[in-house]
Amino acid sequence: MTLAPWLLAALILGGCGQEPPDRAQGVLLRISCGSVGLEYTLCNDGAQRWAQATGNRVEVVSTPNSTTERLALYQQLLGAGADDIDVLQVDVIWPGILAPHLLDLAPAAAGAEEAHFKAIIENNTVDGRLVAMPWYTDAGVLYYRKDLLEKYAENVPGTWAELTETAARIQAAERAAGNGKLWGFVWQGRAYEGLTCNALEWVASHGGGTLVDNRGRVTIGNPRAAAALELAASWVGTISPPGVLNYAEEEARGVFQSGNAVFMRNWPYAWSLAQSEDSPIRNNVGVTTLPAGPGGKSAATLGGWQLAVSKYSRHPRLAAWLVTFLTSPEEQTRRAIAGAYNPTIAALYTRPDVLEANPFFDSLYETFTHAVPRPSRRAGQRYNELSSEFWSAVSSVLAGRQSAPEALEQLAPRLDHLLQAAREAAGETNDKAPDSRSGT
Ligand code: GLC
Repeated sequence: MTLAPWLLAALILGGCGQEPPDRAQGVLLRISCGSVGLEYTLCNDGAQRWAQATGNRVEVVSTPNSTTERLALYQQLLGAGADDIDVLQVDVIWPGILAPHLLDLAPAAAGAEEAHFKAIIENNTVDGRLVAMPWYTDAGVLYYRKDLLEKYAENVPGTWAELTETAARIQAAERAAGNGKLWGFVWQGRAYEGLTCNALEWVASHGGGTLVDNRGRVTIGNPRAAAALELAASWVGTISPPGVLNYAEEEARGVFQSGNAVFMRNWPYAWSLAQSEDSPIRNNVGVTTLPAGPGGKSAATLGGWQLAVSKYSRHPRLAAWLVTFLTSPEEQTRRAIAGAYNPTIAALYTRPDVLEANPFFDSLYETFTHAVPRPSRRAGQRYNELSSEFWSAVSSVLAGRQSAPEALEQLAPRLDHLLQAAREAAGETNDKAPDSRSGT
């Protein structure tokens, strides 16, 4: 039986509670999507379902995998007022940076936003405008090889010290047995936003704070933060390959998934790929919280992506309709099952099909809902500069160019300066005044 297009549209789109804003047919929209893991395919599948159901066309524009490079591209396009992209995939740290170029999606969402995690909706609301709809959330997690831990009768590490020791022991034993390619621990050490995420986890879990406290004061210049960075530096060339200093997410996954690492720090998306039919480590992978520091605290950086409509789109209402469809419970369920992309809608975490595909969504629910935000709300337009100062300082410690105390001592006043500029831009004159906003 062939369904009439309008009926197909109603069936597919009915679930997101949206009425078609108009009857436009045959319009071409462009959406930018990343291609980390299955991102591109899943984005394209969803976009084509919408296109087919509504009689429009959607072209997926692929953007750089590195969030830092993607931001630069967006800033270039949006800064020029270009209408090349209608719907943008936006990192959780960008609403404050990109808000002037994005439309308010509240009218199109028509209340659908209320089902999403409140903290993300708040994050995406800038000056009272909902500039992006949550698409998926992220938090740093630890992947481990169940088979190797079992072989050496080792436990899943609960602390960084245990991870360091276990990784070194298994790496040495495997190499002695002829497995020359095996490394203990892979992560994201390249000088980019991903390093900010990794380093924030090391520092926060060591009790060294989250860069900026909830009163807006820079806290990074402290001995615990320095100890965390020194520990990470000690991994480079011992349990982590020297090349880790150039790894982003996909490089780390490549090593882990080909069977050449005991542990990996990554985001949840790596799960569905590690478990795919042709993965050499299928069924030998575990996912748990990142290790705790000496004070017993574990920390995961909050990540995640949103969809936004460019102010320069020539079809803003249709673009907003596409966004409400792609961020709907149906689409988030499909993406969670097929690609381990964490929904931003709490109710989906109790669905048996979602949990069957991703058992750790249940055991790590707290990790996902209590992840540590980067200070992007606080820094507003200046966030990327702030983060870049941080990852550069961390990078110089990892590469052995500077000691951790020295790097952090130089970093703190730079961050102070950037936050001061952000406060001035936001019209706050009272320097370091207590502030009721969250630490995000
Ligand atoms: C992931 C996170 C994103 C973060 C990026 C860093 O994509 O979802 O929030 O900025 O990694 O590499």
